[in-house]
Amino acid sequence: MKYGELIQFEPIETVIHLQDASELAEAQRLVSTYVISQEMAERLASVVFPNLQFERPADNKGILVIGNYGTGKSHLMSVISAIAEHTELSSYLQNPQVAESARPIAGKFKVIRITLGSTTMDLREVVCSQLEAALLDWGIEFQFPPRDTIPNHKGVFEDMMALFHTQFPDQGLLFVVDELLDYLRSRKDQALILDLGFLRELGEVCKDLRFRIIAGLQEALFDNRRFEFVADAIRRVKDRFEQILIARRDIKYVVAERLLKKTADQLTKIREHLTPFAKFYGSMNERMDEFVSLFPIHPDYIDTFERITVAERREVLKTLSLAMRELVSQNVPQDAPGLIAYDSYWDTLKENPSFRAVPDIRAVIDCSQVLEARIRQAFTRPIYKPMALRIIAALSVHRLTVGDIYSPLGATPDELRDSLCLYDPIVADLGGEPADDLLSQIETVLREIHKTVSGQFISSNTDNRQFYIDLKKTDDYDALIEKRSESLDSSQN
Ligand SMILES: Nc1ncnc2c1ncn2[C@@H]1O[C@H](COP(=O)(O)OP(=O)(O)OP(=O)(O)O)[C@@H](O)[C@H]1O
Ligand SMILES: [Mg+2]
Repeated sequence: MKYGELIQFEPIETVIHLQDASELAEAQRLVSTYVISQEMAERLASVVFPNLQFERPADNKGILVIGNYGTGKSHLMSVISAIAEHTELSSYLQNPQVAESARPIAGKFKVIRITLGSTTMDLREVVCSQLEAALLDWGIEFQFPPRDTIPNHKGVFEDMMALFHTQFPDQGLLFVVDELLDYLRSRKDQALILDLGFLRELGEVCKDLRFRIIAGLQEALFDNRRFEFVADAIRRVKDRFEQILIARRDIKYVVAERLLKKTADQLTKIREHLTPFAKFYGSMNERMDEFVSLFPIHPDYIDTFERITVAERREVLKTLSLAMRELVSQNVPQDAPGLIAYDSYWDTLKENPSFRAVPDIRAVIDCSQVLEARIRQAFTRPIYKPMALRIIAALSVHRLTVGDIYSPLGATPDELRDSLCLYDPIVADLGGEPADDLLSQIETVLREIHKTVSGQFISSNTDNRQFYIDLKKTDDYDALIEKRSESLDSSQN
């Protein structure tokens, strides 16, 4: 049986352009293809819609949509803005509960969408010029006074909205801006302070007017080191915005429900395929639903992926999609779980030129390549070679997940077994406790790796049993002594 027969693979390899949602047919497509996890449904119902609505008085705030690269920020903002603009589109939502909770905002807004590019205009100039242009399109002439003639923007926004309501008495005005972080990052210090001040004002005017703002940005603006010097200005922005975080759970949901969607029949087949292997791993039985819904992606792949801090522009959905593309036409192995785990990400990391340029990644690649070459050429136990290579790839990825690439942190043999679902059919015949048998085999392979490379670049921490790539270890005296005693032994025989 091929992988392609067990899933309805739908590639996710492109990003969404917010402006596409300005066109009705495209907006409809974006609404109908958006899959909504239960957590996201709750966030929409309890944070997004209550802050957007203007029928009941509330302390309305702006909204920040935050997530890593390629995790669905633009898609989410397209969906929200499409529903806010067109009442009928909420019926295309995949989750009827969300359609119901969207009712107070559906069709209640005129919408302006912008994506910040490589502009040197300040945020106020960008926002005000876009507002003026959009208003003019709707037949409303309005001009913002120069910044140095007004104490703040509250009164100006009141004037603007008063004029807006002469044309649209029942509507609100929703301003959606994408790629805010990349823009703010390009700003010089003084300009940044002014931008953040203006952003705060935009959040503030939501309170008393029918003006609303949603902004999308990568990673939490508030934790970014680059912005430490403006921590105070950021804190004040934060007071006037609610944050919607796109979390790991949401990404897993998109993988299960869109990228790798399965029919009931396919789910049953996958469960039948995986069940015999569950006894070899720590928690596969308990997590079987998750394993089945994400198959053939190992659930821990996504968690590990999120922890790689050194490579910034990583797109989890796209990476998984590209890995799947290669797999769909291949056969599912009968004698192994056949899961894709985080070790497979090593090939992507080491082959991508922009990642290779990152000094930390470069350093790990250099060591990892030495290890890999040695194992390919001279592995002491050839039958274990495939497992050894997977372990080296996994430890190389792991090296990039703990912050400091020189820290003595890594993965234990049990963790390697479970988070990679390493497997060897030989283990099935050993007759002991399956998970323990597999574990001792993995420990054997780790020992053989150590021997093959004379301990270079690989260490284990005896306190916590973790194995890790050790970039500083160019000579390993223990292994040299071990080798020496072996050769003494053999010469004495
Ligand atoms: N909940 C979801 N339902 C359906 N598709 C989704 C969902 N989340 C993300 N996607 C898909 O993932 C891809 C990336 O989404 P999107 O472009 O919105 O990401 P982004 O976070 O804005 O990325 P970037 O940081 O590069 O701007 C798109 O193809 C999008 O359709
Ligand atoms: Mg985007």
